[in-house]
Amino acid sequence: MLIRSFDDYTRAYEHSVNNPSDFWNTVASGFSWKKPWSQTLEWNFETPDVKWFIDGKLNITENCIDRHLPAKKNDIAFYFEPNDPKGQARSISYQQLHDDVCRLANTLKKLGVTKGDRVCIYMPMIPEAVFAMLACARIGAVHSVVFAGFSASSLAGRIQDCDCKVVLTTDGAFRGAKDISIKSVVDEALEVCSSVTNVLVYKHTGTAVNMSAGRDLWWQDEVPQAAASCPAETMDSEDLLFILYTSGSTGKPKGVVHTCGGYMVYTCYTFQNVFQYNAGDLFWCTADVGWITGHSYITYGPLLAGASTVLFEGVPTYPDAGRFWQVIDKYKVTHFYTAPTAIRALEAAGLDFVTPYKLDSLRVLGSVGEPINEEAWQWYHKNIGKEKCPIVDTWWQTETGGMLISPIAGITPLKPSYATLPLPGVQPILVDEKGNEIVGNNVEGNLCIKFPWPSIIRTTYGDHERCRQTYFATYKGLYFTGDGCKRDENGYYRITGRVDDVINVSGHRIGTAEVESAINMHADVVESAVVGYPHDIKGQGIYAYVIAPSTAKDHEALKKEIIAEVNKIIGPIAKPDKIQIVSGLPKTRSGKIMRRILRKVAEGDTSNLGDTSTLLDPSVVDEIVRGKQ
Ligand code: WT7
Repeated sequence: MLIRSFDDYTRAYEHSVNNPSDFWNTVASGFSWKKPWSQTLEWNFETPDVKWFIDGKLNITENCIDRHLPAKKNDIAFYFEPNDPKGQARSISYQQLHDDVCRLANTLKKLGVTKGDRVCIYMPMIPEAVFAMLACARIGAVHSVVFAGFSASSLAGRIQDCDCKVVLTTDGAFRGAKDISIKSVVDEALEVCSSVTNVLVYKHTGTAVNMSAGRDLWWQDEVPQAAASCPAETMDSEDLLFILYTSGSTGKPKGVVHTCGGYMVYTCYTFQNVFQYNAGDLFWCTADVGWITGHSYITYGPLLAGASTVLFEGVPTYPDAGRFWQVIDKYKVTHFYTAPTAIRALEAAGLDFVTPYKLDSLRVLGSVGEPINEEAWQWYHKNIGKEKCPIVDTWWQTETGGMLISPIAGITPLKPSYATLPLPGVQPILVDEKGNEIVGNNVEGNLCIKFPWPSIIRTTYGDHERCRQTYFATYKGLYFTGDGCKRDENGYYRITGRVDDVINVSGHRIGTAEVESAINMHADVVESAVVGYPHDIKGQGIYAYVIAPSTAKDHEALKKEIIAEVNKIIGPIAKPDKIQIVSGLPKTRSGKIMRRILRKVAEGDTSNLGDTSTLLDPSVVDEIVRGKQ
């Protein structure tokens, strides 16, 4: 079943399109099910309603762990590399993983967590974060991992949206030279979250914390006492596995829902095929489990495949810009998966940080999160892959659960900055603004998918209508990705970036509306408009136009306060790179901000601003051009 040649790929692809049920039945039969499914697929992209492996019963953790124990209980599931290279590295075997997950699962049960309850995980990149996800899945609780860089108010919003019962966290986190307080952020968030009954705190950095009596418990006091075996809850294929919040073009972040059966089948299938991982290899994905990449290709995909992976706590530039390469040599990593922003930052640091390392264990390189520019691709290929490692440029989204368009390592002929071809089961289609299909090659349009794959988003938590509106209403009968895309003369796909009001900063999705609403919280801000602009390292930077009253204080001080406000409301990842104070924004007579003009100015392309005659006050455009940051 695994793809081992381009012919295999072509055959698998055709099979998946001509007879999707038969194709996915075969893939799914490779897993351990408590009860087989009665029907493979039922779908409707209007409502939307998608179900895979209907009536099937399973527990994903039995497939991630128990299934592997007879043959590989002593194999290493995770090599943990701490932030500080001199810190305590750890190896966790599949048997230890089993025991640690079961102990934590039993602890959650003791705290009253039952099937269907939501549990928030707000933790740094330590093995316990993975145990936490799996412990929830073990007992049928739904995890909601929140990236530990988000602010208290973002965390609170996510806890409230899905009424989490328990929060799993740590005292603090190490990030590079910084020692960050984590528990105090949870404390602040919980001031407004009445659903939370307990907080389990893993002592990691040893920093002082406040423990609220009756609510907060130390992990190290509770978990080791619990039994090292825990029956795996029987889950329906369509029971919720997790919620992961992501930003869109409007409103608050939404809780993307993934379910047990389809997500399991698809993440494992794509992991094994795209990376061509074989027994004995060592995989390293540098993402954080707070994002979908960490969910699918640190926790679930690799464990489902029985793989060994590196789990890294730190950052690429600590203690210096050679850290990734040092870790690759230390563990003899064979498969390395990272983001273009990291590649560009390490390229900028210079080759002196690369040459001390051999990097000769590497066989496959991967890229994810944003378009990889050709320059960065070539640098990665030449200096890290030594021109012998294929680069898989994997395109996908939080909502897709797994990779959709990607080369298969060593099999699909590569083309720099192209995600190349759809994986089996994925049927992309390009459409114009009106939703008409753009056929043929050498074309460009909005990227949609016309047929469900097993790990497609099922709903947005608590608001199904929002899911319909966001993904299934723009173009009738299609899943709309929000991305623009080219198809070249050979049918290869190249993602050109978002076509909606979403900015991709260092591979992180930021909604412009969210940043604007944070900026507008500042008392001296009348109104704001946020757009993206090209940034050498981050891919895109955040450019904010802010209207302040003429009486406002010193503009430099105001800008600093605005940045602090965004930090506080969303987190440092959303802070504007540039702020321009303006007296007005270009608006149409109906009051709509003309973002096209703001984008052009931010990009530095003021030669042709297009038609400005429909503006209420065309003179603001001149002021904006003159004041460009
Ligand atoms: C958006 C999804 C997929 C996990 C990480 C991001 C952009 C992602 C690529 C790629 C070009 C890419 C898209 C997409 N994107 N991978 N290989 N080439 N663009 O997940 O936060 O849900 O963001 O990231 O614009 O829509 P996400």
